[in-house]
Amino acid sequence: MCGIVGYIGNRQASSILLDGLRRLEYRGYDSAGMALNGGGENLRILKRAGRIDNLRQAVTEANPLGTMGISHTRWATHGPATDVNAHPHPDQNGKLVLVHNGVIENYQTLRDQLTAKGHTFLSQTDTEVLSHLVGTYFDESKEPDGTLRLVNAVKAALARVKGTYGIAVMHADLPGVIVGARLGSPLIVGLGDHEHFLASDVSAVVAHTRDVVYLNDYDIVTITKDRYDVQSHQGVPAEVKVSRVEFSADDAEKGEFPHFMLKEIYEQPNSLRNAMRGRLSRDECTAIMGGLNMSPKELVQIDRIILAGCGTAYHAAMVGEYLIESLARVPTEVEIASEFRYRNVPANKNTLQFVMSQSGETIDTLAAMREGQRKGIRCLGIVNTVGSTIARESDGGVYIHAGPEIGVAATKTFTSQVTILTLLSLLLGRIHHLSSVDGLEMIDELEALPDKIVQILKQADKIKAIAEKHCHAEGMLFMGRQMNYPVALEGALKMKEISYIYASGHPSAELKHGVIALVKPDMPSVFIAPDDAVFDKNVSNIEEVRARKGPVIAVTTEGRTELERITDDVIYVPDCPSYLTPILNVVPLQLLSYYTAVARGCDVDKPRNLAKSVTVE
Ligand code: F6R
Repeated sequence: MCGIVGYIGNRQASSILLDGLRRLEYRGYDSAGMALNGGGENLRILKRAGRIDNLRQAVTEANPLGTMGISHTRWATHGPATDVNAHPHPDQNGKLVLVHNGVIENYQTLRDQLTAKGHTFLSQTDTEVLSHLVGTYFDESKEPDGTLRLVNAVKAALARVKGTYGIAVMHADLPGVIVGARLGSPLIVGLGDHEHFLASDVSAVVAHTRDVVYLNDYDIVTITKDRYDVQSHQGVPAEVKVSRVEFSADDAEKGEFPHFMLKEIYEQPNSLRNAMRGRLSRDECTAIMGGLNMSPKELVQIDRIILAGCGTAYHAAMVGEYLIESLARVPTEVEIASEFRYRNVPANKNTLQFVMSQSGETIDTLAAMREGQRKGIRCLGIVNTVGSTIARESDGGVYIHAGPEIGVAATKTFTSQVTILTLLSLLLGRIHHLSSVDGLEMIDELEALPDKIVQILKQADKIKAIAEKHCHAEGMLFMGRQMNYPVALEGALKMKEISYIYASGHPSAELKHGVIALVKPDMPSVFIAPDDAVFDKNVSNIEEVRARKGPVIAVTTEGRTELERITDDVIYVPDCPSYLTPILNVVPLQLLSYYTAVARGCDVDKPRNLAKSVTVE
């Protein structure tokens, strides 16, 4: 949430910062700003409420010069999205500027203390307080070395802060130095040729360099044109590892697609292949997951698995519970990450925890992992973003390798997460009781999935027509049974987050326990009813909705044409074993929500009030 980009080098900074902000816009898009140091006495600050295009226009008009600068795209926490609340925020005398991701929890106390000393604040943000605090320490310092003076001021201010931060700071009197720091909010350093970058995410810098350093909590970094220096709060040099970014700037572009979400839906045949690549062994009839760092002897001891995540990742985890219990027979529990950290979850040495996260930065999921580790549980990550905090702090794990997901609504990462959980179930199943024949059959079915998704994508026009028919519905109900119940939840989440139609997901049988009261002609019900052991039960539930004049859209297996008689619309997906149906069934629901949102004129990639990578609690 919120994106930071900083640049120092020989090139004009404004266009580099704008391009970086554009690539980070998914992290927040209610206002944006930048500050440039053009070498004069004063810094040039430009800030605009609204999308980055508003800032771009201001920059085009003002044409500010400077080969160093810091910038920010905001997702408001304290104070509404206005020009004045946008970052960067200057200190009391306007010489120091600061951009910030995260939340300063004790900002009101600090603000009161500074106000008592004569400070005046222009904004309602917590960030401005931090800016004033750093500025105060800088002004009071007698340290002759300017860089050290700024670093010490940042350290002194951060020592008084409760909360989370990723920050970038610069001072008008120090042309040539930007200081960054992090605790709980990601920050990376991009290493260029006589230029350096600071950013919340590598996608902001990948057009310029693929060599990056992922900072750790409590790191403080100083970048100049030719150097970068990372140290801890105690002033000792921090451990630094240069990593190579796997994807290119083009991978994070929309290409010919009108939206990132659609592009990412269409990427699923490939993202699934990437999730499975090198991880299926036909010789051993099992999955290979070296990143778990666990031998079969250790894995066979595991008698309980906890899966934790938020939002879409939580829904993937719910599918995982069904998969692991049915295929591997290991008792599994799913936890909403934000709840897990505040619960007394019993655990023993044979408990294994997985945290699921696309970004690898979601603060609640990170906290759930740290809580698990504090309890002595081995915690592994199922993560998309290479080098993210969860990936680095976990005791091992599996990358889903879905590539950058820029659309705020998660799509391809859901199917990749479920695929990884299926591989995990195969691995554990083979350790416990699955025969080599069963294992081989699973491998065959898994490998057939990408082509089946291609078949589903070919029905995009039909799904678009269904979406257009129902796009003015008052609400939508999503129903599924067993491992398609989480798919119903995911379909409802997609629908409400991008189309703003209220939607809810339910186990089909729950209908009669209350939900049926909502059924009426402008409340369509989407039934996920594959050809499985509970198909007939779903049919009965569909009849109950029909009897009350509720329109029904069914997602079912090719061949179950009898549903055409009792529903308004049927979307067919290719046949597959029931344990793989969630991966296929979710794809039409992604398309349904996408086309509904487009028909309603919604901003699909940047839904209101949302942002990707939720780094605040
Ligand atoms: C929904 C969505 C969110 C995320 C959730 C967790 O489309 O994208 O619900 O799934 O914020 O994010 P990660 O996976 O980055 O931890």
